[in-house]
Amino acid sequence: MSAHSTPSDELIEHHRSVAAGGSAMTTVSYCAVSDDGIAFDHEMWIRTEILPQLKRLTDAVHKEGAAASIQLGHCGFFANKNAIGKTPIGPTRKLCLFRYSICREMAAEDMERVKEDFGKAAKIAIEAGFDAVEIHAGHGYLLSQFLSPWTNKRKDKYGGSLINRLRFPASVIKYVRESIGDGYPILVKMNLEDGFKGGLKIDEAVKVAKYFETAGASALVPSCGFTARTSFYMMRGQVPILDYVKSEKNPFTKIGMALFGRFIVKKVPYKELLLLEQAKRIREAVKIPVIYIGGVCSLDNMNTVMDEGFEFVQIGRAIVRDPDFVKKLQAKEITASDCDHCNRCVAEMANKGLVCTSKNKGLKTKQYKL
Ligand SMILES: Cc1cc2nc3c(=O)[nH]c(=O)nc-3n(C[C@H](O)[C@H](O)[C@H](O)COP(=O)(O)O)c2cc1C
Ligand code: SF4
Repeated sequence: MSAHSTPSDELIEHHRSVAAGGSAMTTVSYCAVSDDGIAFDHEMWIRTEILPQLKRLTDAVHKEGAAASIQLGHCGFFANKNAIGKTPIGPTRKLCLFRYSICREMAAEDMERVKEDFGKAAKIAIEAGFDAVEIHAGHGYLLSQFLSPWTNKRKDKYGGSLINRLRFPASVIKYVRESIGDGYPILVKMNLEDGFKGGLKIDEAVKVAKYFETAGASALVPSCGFTARTSFYMMRGQVPILDYVKSEKNPFTKIGMALFGRFIVKKVPYKELLLLEQAKRIREAVKIPVIYIGGVCSLDNMNTVMDEGFEFVQIGRAIVRDPDFVKKLQAKEITASDCDHCNRCVAEMANKGLVCTSKNKGLKTKQYKL
């Protein structure tokens, strides 16, 4: 939780516990680089005023022997209008059904300002003691909105061909590299596919990966999905619409979600290592390390990913389920996570923070004991 867009004690404790639980690096999830890049009113917005709290977070992680990374992004057209107090910005004017709002098309000055905000945010992150930054260019966030033909209908040099759609995201990566120098890793999260007709597809994603490498990325984190349209595509499993409805505070959004949620959010069954085949195409296309993410929930899964030549693996829900997941695997206490991919943690994180909120009392880690 980041009450008032500031890291809370609970957030610091969460990352400390992940570090203590055996993970080599913990990533502070989505933090906006600009005050108009916030998707939810509790989300963190990077600025110098929060440096002391960010330092507390990195100190706590370092004391447990792990590294800390921070994900930097801007949510563009699906920014929460009430939270940012103005009209959201995006590559092209577009209606957002996720927010029931219409964004305005970014002018050259907006692009320049957001690019500079990415650079400033990365510098603050390094000053706060983070060991790496992760630029969010996937999941339908602003940079991904520029890459996607669904959200980018611009007629200028930033729209149309893939080279044009790449221009702004690549310029941001280049600018962040210039801002923080060569001494710090820049991870870039990007989409393998948006997950719907008319969105970014794998063949284009392979080219995007190569451009991002040239622009200054140190490693890539290929993922998928579009938050405002296919928000569960990146995770698969259950779509907990009722939990969303219960945790939503805005009455209009609550009613909209109750009535149309099941039509807007597509359900896709969970699959272990759900992105492996597509991620291999990225690994084959670039020389920099590719970090595998998506459906890793057992030691077998990790071994498969390593055997396929990936250098690193990122884990989401298995760690939310149990921050000691890695330590327990190392100690041979368990061989797999008992996360059942109910995705309630996603629906309820705005109110409850980053914790497992599964209602399945039958879930017991020990049932997987060797
Ligand atoms: C509670 C929760 C919050 C998440 N928040 C973010 C986020 O802020 N940024 C992001 O890129 N992905 C986020 N994700 C998606 C994960 O990074 C990951 O792509 C997804 O969970 C699939 O990996 P897994 O199968 O290991 O869970 C979140 C996932 C969960 C479960
Ligand atoms: S709520 Fe718990 S069991 Fe459900 S997806 Fe999240 S971590 Fe897994």
